[in-house]
Order: sequence, then structure tokens, then C-alpha cells
Amino acid sequence: MRVLGINAVFHDPAAALVVDGEIVAAAEEERFSRRKHGKVPVAFSTWELPEQSAEWCLERAGLSPRDLDAVAYSYDPCIAPPAGADITAGNWEGLRTLYAQRAPLFLQTALPGLDPERVIFVPHHLAHAASAYLAAPYPRCSVLVLDGRGERASHLAGHAEYGDLTVLATQYLPDSLGLMYEELTAHLGFRRSSDEYKVMALASYGEPAYLPALRELVRATGDGGFKVGPIDWAAFAPARRGGPDCEDGAFSAAQVNLATSVQHRLQEVLLDLATWLHERTGDTDLVMAGGVALNCVASSWLLEHGPFERIWVQPAAGDAGTALGAALHVARGLGDRIHPMRTAALGRGWTDESLEGWLRMAEVAFERPDDVAKATAEVIAENGIVAWFQGRSELGPRALGHRSLLANPSHADNLQRLNAIKGREQFRPVAPMVRVERAADIFEGGPLPSPYMLFTHRVKPEWRDRIAAVVHVDGTARVQTVDEHDEPLVARMLRAVERLTGVPVVVNTSLNTAGRPMVDDPRDALECFGSAPIDALAMGPFLVRRRRR
Ligand SMILES: [Fe+2]
Repeated sequence: MRVLGINAVFHDPAAALVVDGEIVAAAEEERFSRRKHGKVPVAFSTWELPEQSAEWCLERAGLSPRDLDAVAYSYDPCIAPPAGADITAGNWEGLRTLYAQRAPLFLQTALPGLDPERVIFVPHHLAHAASAYLAAPYPRCSVLVLDGRGERASHLAGHAEYGDLTVLATQYLPDSLGLMYEELTAHLGFRRSSDEYKVMALASYGEPAYLPALRELVRATGDGGFKVGPIDWAAFAPARRGGPDCEDGAFSAAQVNLATSVQHRLQEVLLDLATWLHERTGDTDLVMAGGVALNCVASSWLLEHGPFERIWVQPAAGDAGTALGAALHVARGLGDRIHPMRTAALGRGWTDESLEGWLRMAEVAFERPDDVAKATAEVIAENGIVAWFQGRSELGPRALGHRSLLANPSHADNLQRLNAIKGREQFRPVAPMVRVERAADIFEGGPLPSPYMLFTHRVKPEWRDRIAAVVHVDGTARVQTVDEHDEPLVARMLRAVERLTGVPVVVNTSLNTAGRPMVDDPRDALECFGSAPIDALAMGPFLVRRRRR
């Protein structure tokens, strides 16, 4: 069966294609449109579709819209608040429902030849859940979905067995852990539905001073669900004015402590929810999706303190991943046997010839070293920063060695250097990548392997100075392990760096500059390299070196 998955409703529009149970392609619209998160998260934008990513998914497989057996749309207007007579009521909620109902016609316009009768609505949280339990390598597992909101809910807890899901609990709106974190994000002067990961980073700098009060306001209800607020954020700390004129570090102690307190409370409630679920399922393994599952500090805390032995988080746990989950769910419903996800590198890629064409067109001096991995390692060993553009781009918010900025972790000031290149706040951390065989020598207290960079680990004390650029203020790091069977080129680069420097770790952060989506195509890579003080661009087998004045 050929099933196209579409996420369009709230934010992070994306498309995914599943053919005969195999994930063939998946990409976020922002990588094509160069508009971060794809669109504004308001009801008016519900009609906007991931047109370019959907077209590309079909092109990749040599299909036309006519060839599709189904289109899976990750929101079900039948279970949403009815459009009603006044579509402006409830913050335009009716308009959202109306636009979602009309999505088959919008899709027919965007993808000429598509039969609108083949569009199947998949409930939002079922799509999130399927993106985890059908993509994970576990035949039997517990499932936890936590996000801002779907049609009427913000959570799903269940048990999956050989691809069949039993839902055990649902928390309905307005109670939402995701929306709580979004509100805090906005209160601290960041963009909601976008910058929650900055709040998580900020949280490691404070004290949980407001935890007792938050325990009253936010709590599990003993039936698998939870209660949230309402919370008067200003009673804890004044709102922070955000925007470009906001200075780095311009946070009061109360604001930082508020971030720390909410993060701690989120973790405690997550533990209560997971414990409740485990008591009912007895499962060894848990899979998670929904935007809250991208909170790697909370997921790691849950793994360490909770009842599950293993946790698998969908790398595109945010709404982009619902395109994939909806497609997998519908493909299974049509009788396909689903193959678990083996990589997040599901986006666009280019041939060497095509990359060479781009470099010639840009008239930049480039070389083709015998081994680009070794040449890159030499630049890193000399403390250069390398833009690394290799293979297919990653689905989800993490760069995993395909669209990455690489640097030497032994120089502590490379953190500031990378944050300056990327034009982002100085409290933001960067992450280490390490070959899976070497990971346990350096890191502890988190799952290994950890190929999708979704958990934090403690850096062993004897390594903290040696890889200072990637160690957070609390002594942890968000590790990506690299298996050479899956990622031979990245593994070879890491080996070469270790040979040259004695350190088996490389800094890996996403290849983009402030406010822009991750680099996706060769033009983006050349623009990014051209506009920032990056020492080299390793694009496919080619290396471009910066010539400084
Ligand atoms: Fe969601």
C-alpha cells in the first residue's frame, strides 16, 4: 500500500510516505519553505498544507498523487469541537474544525490528481502514539503521548502489542502539561510552541524554589490523568520581555527558579503517570511521543527513577512526527506489515555529481580529498569548525550527523563560538557525538546506545575538562551515539578525530543560523557557510575551506 501522511493542523507541517509498510520518506515543510516551524500556530493557518514536502515524498518514490491508496491526515475533525454557527467562538476553534473538514479538498488542490475520498482522518494522539509504537523496535510496550493539545485531549496512555493499541487513559483539555510548558515559555519571553527547549536549558541554572506551590497546582489524579492549574505565573516571577533587544542572561533569579521548578514538577508528574501505566501493563518498555517527549531532561529522569527498563522516544516527537504516525497507522489498517524505523535520515539527499554541480555554480574553490572524513577530522583537530552536509537530512529537531556543525570539544570556548555563529543565547548547550563502543568510557547514567540524542547522560568526572565544550552546568551532556554499521562516514570521522587528538568525542549541533530552519539543500549549506565564520564545509566528498582576509 502507498500511504501519504500529512500533518497540517497546529504547527510543524510535515509529510511522510509509507510504501508496503516501509518508511520511504519523511520531511518537514520548514526545510523546503525556509520558514521555521512551517507556519504560525493559529487556527487561520489550518488550511496550509505541507505542499512541498508532500510533493517531494511522492517524487522520491516516483509516485503521482493518483497512485496513492490513502492519505492519512493527523487530526480528526469528527472528534473536534463542532464548527457550530459561530466559527469565531472559542478563539476560532470552529474555523480550525471547518478547515480540517475541508482538508481533502485542499489536498486535492495542492496535489492534483489526488482522490479526496482517499483522505482518512486519524485522531491526533493516535497518530502521535503510532509514530512511537509502530516505529519503535518493541513488539510489546506501554505508550505515553503528551503534547499541548489534539482535538480535545492533551494525553494518551496505553499498551501496544504487535501493533494493536489499547488506550488506557486520556486527559482532556484544558488540562495540558504541554500547554503549561508553552505558557511558561511565553512568560519567560520566548516563542511558545517553538522555544520550549530553551526553557529546559535555562532550568538547569536555577533552584526549584516554587516546587511546593506547583505541587498544589499541577498533579496526577490517580486515574492515569492529571490536573493543571490555572497558574498565575506573575505571582512567581514577572513576565520577561522577549524579542531581539533582549540581552543574554537578562533573567531574574525568580524567572530562572520558575523554569527550574516547572521542569522539576513536570518530571514528578511524568513519573506518577508512568508508574500508573506500568502498574496496569507490567511492560518492560515504554515508548513516548508528543512535544513533551522532546524534553530530554525529563525523559532521562523518568528512565532513571521510573519503572520502565527501556524508553524509546520518537525522534520527531513533536507534531511533525504525526505525519509519519498517521501514515503508519493507516498502512497497518490496510493490511501492511510495518517495519520499525531504522534511521531519522528520511529527508532529501543529493548525488556527488549534483553536489559538485552546486559548488561549480557557486564558483567556490573546493577540493576532493581522498577521504572527507579524515580531512574534516584534521580541521577539527586544529580547532576549526566544520559545516557537515552528508546524506539525507534528518526528520525531527536534532541534527544527527547529516546536517551538523562540528567542532572540537576540548576547547571550552567552542560553546560560545558556536552560539555566536548560530546567533543564539549563550546559555544554550551543544551536544557530543561519540562512537557507540566508546560511549560507556565517557558517559554514564543514560541509555546506551542513544542514536537520536533524546536523553541526557552524566559525563564521568575525569572527562569533564577534556570535553568541556559539551558539559552542561550540571555535569550532564545530551549524547548521540554513532554505530558504524548505520553511519560509517560519521564513525570514520570520529575515529580520525580520536587518532589525531586522543579524544573520541566531537561537538555536534544543528547546521543553521538564528531563527532559520536547519539547512536542508546544498544552496542552504552554501548560504550558511558563506554567512558565518565557519572554517570548512564538508559537502558529500568535497571540502570547501574558508579563505580569510
Ligand atoms: Fe501534538
